[in-house]
Amino acid sequence: MKVKKICCIGAGYVGGPTMAVIAQKCPDIYVTVVDINEERIKAWNDENLDNLPVYEPGLDKVVAEARGRNLRFCTNVEGAIQEADMIFISVNTPTKTYGEGKGQAADLKWIELCARQIAAAAESDKIVVEKSTLPVRTAEAIRDILENTGNGTKFQILSNPEFLAEGTAIEDLMDPDRVLIGGDTKTPEGLEAMEALVEVYGHWVPREKILTTNVWSSELSKLTANAFLAQRVSSINALSELCESTEADINEVSRAIGTDSRIGNKFLKASVGFGGSCFQKDILNLVYISRSYGLTSVADYWEQVIKINDHQKGRFAKNIIRSLYNTVSGKKIAFLGWAFKKDTNDTRESAAIYVADHLLNEDAKVTVFDPKVKEEQMYSDLDYLNSRNKVDNRKLMKAEHCPYEACKGAHAVAVLTEWDEFVDYDWQKIYDNMLKPAQVFDGRSVLDKQKLRDIGFRVYTIGTT
Ligand code: NAD
Ligand code: UGA
Repeated sequence: MKVKKICCIGAGYVGGPTMAVIAQKCPDIYVTVVDINEERIKAWNDENLDNLPVYEPGLDKVVAEARGRNLRFCTNVEGAIQEADMIFISVNTPTKTYGEGKGQAADLKWIELCARQIAAAAESDKIVVEKSTLPVRTAEAIRDILENTGNGTKFQILSNPEFLAEGTAIEDLMDPDRVLIGGDTKTPEGLEAMEALVEVYGHWVPREKILTTNVWSSELSKLTANAFLAQRVSSINALSELCESTEADINEVSRAIGTDSRIGNKFLKASVGFGGSCFQKDILNLVYISRSYGLTSVADYWEQVIKINDHQKGRFAKNIIRSLYNTVSGKKIAFLGWAFKKDTNDTRESAAIYVADHLLNEDAKVTVFDPKVKEEQMYSDLDYLNSRNKVDNRKLMKAEHCPYEACKGAHAVAVLTEWDEFVDYDWQKIYDNMLKPAQVFDGRSVLDKQKLRDIGFRVYTIGTT
């Protein structure tokens, strides 16, 4: 079967870029991305490509090429489902904030809603593709809903998890390490559906990079990949603390172990802690699933990755307080960066939020500069924690549009995101306008420590002395 029309439910960080690349690479396939969020769809349709709701290097060009040709963004979910042969589900699957599994399990209410919408609207057979990250065996629940609430049409369910990282989404989509497709490998219909999706990716991804497995392996591989990646960051971060006590240098340790081809040199950068919408959520989910099968030791093992990450964010904040003579009350502390990593405007679970919250609890005055994050977003991240009321958050924290203004009169500057531009700032000018002793806390090890020390700064970097 050849796919002619694709619908993607969910126009977020995954649905938008992924579908834009599919449309660009497959001019023979018509792609419709739908979302219930009208504002988001309006932004995807904005003439001015600077206003797209997701910032990703290179995304604007891809959208410019495909939008209006074979790529469309709209809110007509039902209509798009009806006309598509293949429907991707790319909606959010956050951690549950209520009831059974609160704080750990994935909240699948949006997934269930999608399944019900598909079943109700479908008037012909469809291939339904799980693009969202889901607990292993979710396809079973989706099948149950589709088969029991539909109009007698047939569905094939595939799992096709997404491995893109934000900030490099377009590169990752254009040249993925692999594409994973899980399906019903035991029936001809299942194999045919898998082949249809293989053909979509086959437009630009070499066949040997397209892996096919059964559905459950595919679902679990996604959670496993994120758990492994996050575990590397927590492992190196745990050792960064030991480095600070022993005069070993975490960057040298990373380099030394990374040259071992069995370990590899990626994802060994010590930091203020990992953020992003997925690592924490997916590990918590893995922990929950393991516990629900009675596998306590397995659950405890993975939970430790989160505990170290929380510890790393906390100790960064505590270190600032300790270095400022154990009190930051009324002191201005400037943050460079709020996004969870460079080259994205995404702030979900960013370490900056937690470090700010810790300092605000100590009555500090935090000013923040981030090249891509909007002020409202910073406040909404802080409000979400519910640590204090909205008025106090706005009184204690200020967003600045200029990094030099943010740092002016500050006791300390903390680097929370590794934006390239921070390195090239006029650090002499920043120093001249700060209170003394002027301190820099580089949570990303991006600045030239020696240069800053020569200017007169006291500098702290993670995992070095
Ligand atoms: P997101 O919150 O940015 O986007 C999800 C979108 O789905 C929202 O715009 C929401 O309005 C929409 N939506 C929810 N229910 C809907 C419905 N019934 N009908 C229409 N629209 C609906 O989320 P995201 O970051 O794109 O993540 C989506 C999934 O992909 C998650 O499961 C996540 O774990 C996974 N994932 C994310 C990344 C990433 O880098 N962000 C990478 C790989 C996988
Ligand atoms: C991550 C995975 O890398 C993707 O493969 C996956 O698809 C995605 O999660 C997802 O499922 O959402 P992402 O969170 O966008 O992608 O970004 P990463 O590059 O993985 O960084 C995550 C966090 O770890 C960031 O805060 C980053 O600063 C931090 N990190 C990463 C480190 O502190 N050190 C490192 O060496 C690497």
